[in-house]
Amino acid sequence: MSIIFEKETKTFWLDGKGTTYSFFINPFGYAEHLYFGKKIPHESLMHTRAYGGLSKGIHPNPAIEGQRIWSYNYMKSELAFFGTGDYREPAVLVENAAGDRLSDLLYAGHEILPTKPAISGMPSLDGGETLVLHLKDEHTDFCADLYYTVYDDCDVIARRAVYRNGAKTPATLRRAYSFSLSLPGRDYEVTSLWGSWAHERFMQKTRVHHGVVSIDSKNTSSSATLNPFIAVSDLGATEKAGQVWGVNLVYSSSYVLKAQGDSGGHTLLTGGINDFDFYWTLEAGESFETPEVVIAYSAEGFSGMSRAFHDAYREHLINKRFVKAPRPLVLNNWEGTTFDFNLEKLKAIVDAVEGTGIDTFVLDDGWFGTDRNTSTASLGDWHIVNPTKLPGGLKPLVDYVKSKGMKMGLWFEPECLNENSEVYRAHPDYIIGVPGRIHGIGRDSWMMDLTRKEVRDYIVETVNKVIRENGLDYVKWDYNRNVTESFSLGRAAKDQARFAHLYALGVYDLCERIVEANPNVFFEGCSAGGGRFDPAMLHYFSQIWTSDNSDAEARTLIQYGTSMCYPLSSMSCHVSAVPNHQTYGRVCSMKTRGDIAHLGATGYELDSTAFTDEDREEVRAQIVDYKENDEDLVLNGDLYRLANPFESNFFAFQLVSKDKKQSTMTLYRRTNICNDYPLRMRLEGLDPKTMYHISELDLTLSGEILMTVGIIIKFRGGDFLTLKYHVNAVE
Ligand code: DGJ
Repeated sequence: MSIIFEKETKTFWLDGKGTTYSFFINPFGYAEHLYFGKKIPHESLMHTRAYGGLSKGIHPNPAIEGQRIWSYNYMKSELAFFGTGDYREPAVLVENAAGDRLSDLLYAGHEILPTKPAISGMPSLDGGETLVLHLKDEHTDFCADLYYTVYDDCDVIARRAVYRNGAKTPATLRRAYSFSLSLPGRDYEVTSLWGSWAHERFMQKTRVHHGVVSIDSKNTSSSATLNPFIAVSDLGATEKAGQVWGVNLVYSSSYVLKAQGDSGGHTLLTGGINDFDFYWTLEAGESFETPEVVIAYSAEGFSGMSRAFHDAYREHLINKRFVKAPRPLVLNNWEGTTFDFNLEKLKAIVDAVEGTGIDTFVLDDGWFGTDRNTSTASLGDWHIVNPTKLPGGLKPLVDYVKSKGMKMGLWFEPECLNENSEVYRAHPDYIIGVPGRIHGIGRDSWMMDLTRKEVRDYIVETVNKVIRENGLDYVKWDYNRNVTESFSLGRAAKDQARFAHLYALGVYDLCERIVEANPNVFFEGCSAGGGRFDPAMLHYFSQIWTSDNSDAEARTLIQYGTSMCYPLSSMSCHVSAVPNHQTYGRVCSMKTRGDIAHLGATGYELDSTAFTDEDREEVRAQIVDYKENDEDLVLNGDLYRLANPFESNFFAFQLVSKDKKQSTMTLYRRTNICNDYPLRMRLEGLDPKTMYHISELDLTLSGEILMTVGIIIKFRGGDFLTLKYHVNAVE
């Protein structure tokens, strides 16, 4: 990794592990993009500059000779700005004191820092050599500092912007995106991840066209609707081939990501905080920091892009204490009991998994407040343990779980409350909403106004007390609705359009103060399943409940989509009971449910008192296999997606250790096609020269044969079946 500035040509070269990013300061003084892709030698790239001298082009500085062949509208700016002749999507729109919305951002210097400074109040990747490029509008003193970080252990570049009002009068940001990036050509497709509750991160593709492909959230959450991710790929790129640029925003509130084909023959990518409802006034000297965007590059199709993200998040984003450590193997009671439990029932559930290898019991919703028997009451009353279900408080249960050698986890939903709760009766002003208007109810709850410090202080104090006093080891942090009626009491009218971003900062402050105060406690995120699955949340929550849909067939699709940018270890994947609750009764075998759930941070979510002796033995054997063969690959290995359930009857994930000595391949077939032909699967990621033994086939072959010729697979049996292969290097 290195960042170099060539003085003679005013060219910056940012070399990462396998990538090069380059731009130069053009004769007009603008930072003009040259290249982002596979690592290349530092030769002149001037022949790739964008001409654009047609009749309606607006030209920069006429005083410079030959200027008429250049125009703003074709210039590949490092930060697309507005008002002087570039009519594409700007990354920044500032309303200056005079009321004009111009910004003319010229190079004003740069710094090369050995490591990346953190963003105040927002999570971001750590480490990495960093270039800070200073841009300035000489007319208004409005400045933009662009941060670029490269890594020697993963093929991503991290970017963000800091906008500063250097004027003596206020200026207002009406758009403050994190980046813009110009790709050569327009023959690309955009892949994004759409969804809804129990149906998260399904893949969709559309072509880049003249105009803007835009995906966004207006939910004040990164949302289940569209994940803050796009992949821009060569037309026809596959899992294994073609160029792919993946863009993932480290942000948990309303955002937008755009890809625009322009008439100059480029594709402009830009995005950041959603500006559709955003207005941020900067007083003289004030700055605004944008969230970080992580841009991965792969010359080897989508799977290379995913591995770049996975490595980046495991090495530089997720809590170092937990990211590579074996995860708690959880039994969660939610699908087993929902709200209907008491101490005796919970003890029996714990007893029933003794000897299986499950090491953590997580008590889900329903343990608090006087009346938490449905979702309509007591939410927010963390200071009261339900006196009917747990008459002696939490301690007897915690002690019982610990006496069995297990760890104890507990559910909270710190951001929400019920109208029928002690906390609301005591603090009716703590909620989000416009006074006098009806407050929309989501999952029977309202929301705490996290943009206010006193509200956050209250939550931090109450939640931390429960964690501390009960010696908890694990917290499941849920969030079951989205913000409506965005309005914060006591904030000036002109500042109400800050709400969505302030909410994100409030969530991060809350996480920081609860997660940091309990460094030994493992935190799992959740948002009615995977409704807020984003890199910023992953910084605090080392794994996230991937979906409330725990059906194995549905999970193949959800986990496939999620793996586009999030590592397997970040996905909580549980075996639940059949007939499945969410899919109205689909029945998949325990083997299938286990095999699919073991492609993530695994656990069980059911009433274990219903286990037969055979069930218990099967769970025990599954966990032995997980611990011996899967866990390390899930935590540290490389993922290869061999079959796509969105496009075929099959799903297949192959996991390979970094030293290429160990691998597993899990293959799933949706439905039985009568008299179907056998499948040929070519493995990936192995060392061609190493000999491997596949125990299930009793076959020893070189990596070369396994990857080029492949193996033949024949399913026997009905629908929703899995086959799992252990592929180990022969010493
Ligand atoms: C939604 C979550 O996704 C579930 O796992 C469970 O925790 C419920 N909330 C509890 O209310």
